[in-house]
Amino acid sequence: MARKTAFITGITGQDGSYLADFLLDQGYRVCGMVRRSSTENFQRIEHIRSRIELYQADLLDQTSLAQVLSQVHPDEVYNLAAMSFVPTSWQQPVLTAEYTALGVTRLLDALRAVCPHARFYQASSSEMFGKVQQTPQSEDTPFYPRSPYGVAKVYGHYITVNYRESYGLFACSGVLFNHESPRRGLEFVTRKISHGVAKIRLGLAHELRLGNLQAKRDWGFAGDYVRAMWLMLQQEKPDDYVIGTGETHSVEEYVQLAFDHVGLDWRKYVVIDPQFYRPAEVDLLLADAGKAKRQLGWQPKVSFPDLTAMMVEADLAALGGQRLASLAA
Ligand code: NAP
Ligand code: GDD
Repeated sequence: MARKTAFITGITGQDGSYLADFLLDQGYRVCGMVRRSSTENFQRIEHIRSRIELYQADLLDQTSLAQVLSQVHPDEVYNLAAMSFVPTSWQQPVLTAEYTALGVTRLLDALRAVCPHARFYQASSSEMFGKVQQTPQSEDTPFYPRSPYGVAKVYGHYITVNYRESYGLFACSGVLFNHESPRRGLEFVTRKISHGVAKIRLGLAHELRLGNLQAKRDWGFAGDYVRAMWLMLQQEKPDDYVIGTGETHSVEEYVQLAFDHVGLDWRKYVVIDPQFYRPAEVDLLLADAGKAKRQLGWQPKVSFPDLTAMMVEADLAALGGQRLASLAA
């Protein structure tokens, strides 16, 4: 069979880099979209740089999207690019909507014109459930977004459904719950904590300032979740799927596990700082991923404690510290 071509927007991000790793392993030709910057931001894809093709385009520029799709001729398009940090969406609500909402329509329209047979994946989010209307949350749970980011993602979700129903595109939307990794951006809470714990353990910091410790999330490992994205595009029919672990944990639980991992008492180091509270909070997310399990055969492999340990260990190593074993010795 001919080698398939995948096109990934957001390839420089956490998920884009794991998806590129996964698709290369599956034998794909992997092409990625990057936006122009005065300095390259390719750390997460440095290890595969020679095995992928990068093309400049931007979700804000319709013409650039059509051009890049006609150059690449993709079989599968994964739209992972977005303004993905929830707090920034209150500071830049209009730009968030341009990237995270209208960007989806621009890309779908370009795909419809240039490569209508390509399969399309949209990175939807559990943030769309916001002030949750039922627990756990499944494909049937109504949306109630609590941030400009969540509102933009609801638009991206429904425009994907609409283009599937209006034009017969093979377009899927994956409603992914929080997923983390050592490649997670430093401002997201799990990575902020793992990095902060490693710095404290290595004597490089003496406190960690955080916001709401009572918020609960369904956290999984990003490497598991990109497999679900791919599985959605391998089905006979396009559909939407919730992806999560089915476990929920508070930020405080993650803090405790991370500090326990290096043998420290978190209460001595964590400072609650109101600047990290949000204008409107999402209190509890918990996935019912039964449909994905039944129809895709998808299940997460990495547990919550293993994810925490993986992230703390990676930050200890990256910060030049010794591994935990030698620290404890
Ligand atoms: P991330 O690490 O923040 O990566 C975002 C990517 O989007 C980066 O490659 C970024 O490029 C790119 N991008 C942003 N604006 C762009 C624009 N105007 N044109 C082109 N590229 C642009 O996010 P992630 O965690 O990998 O998440 C991937 C997607 O899944 C996002 O859509 C996110 O909203 C969604 N999602 C994530 C989670 C999660 O828990 N991680 C859960 C549900 C949904 P630069 O490197 O140039 O900034
Ligand atoms: N970032 C951050 N920083 N969050 C904090 C902090 C802090 O210092 N202290 C407490 N939190 C709480 C937040 O209030 C929130 O309830 C929770 O930790 C998780 O915050 P983030 O890690 O920033 O993630 P998120 O849940 O807002 O959004 C992520 O998950 C979504 C899926 O549900 C992002 O990856 C989104 O792009 C994604 O769609």
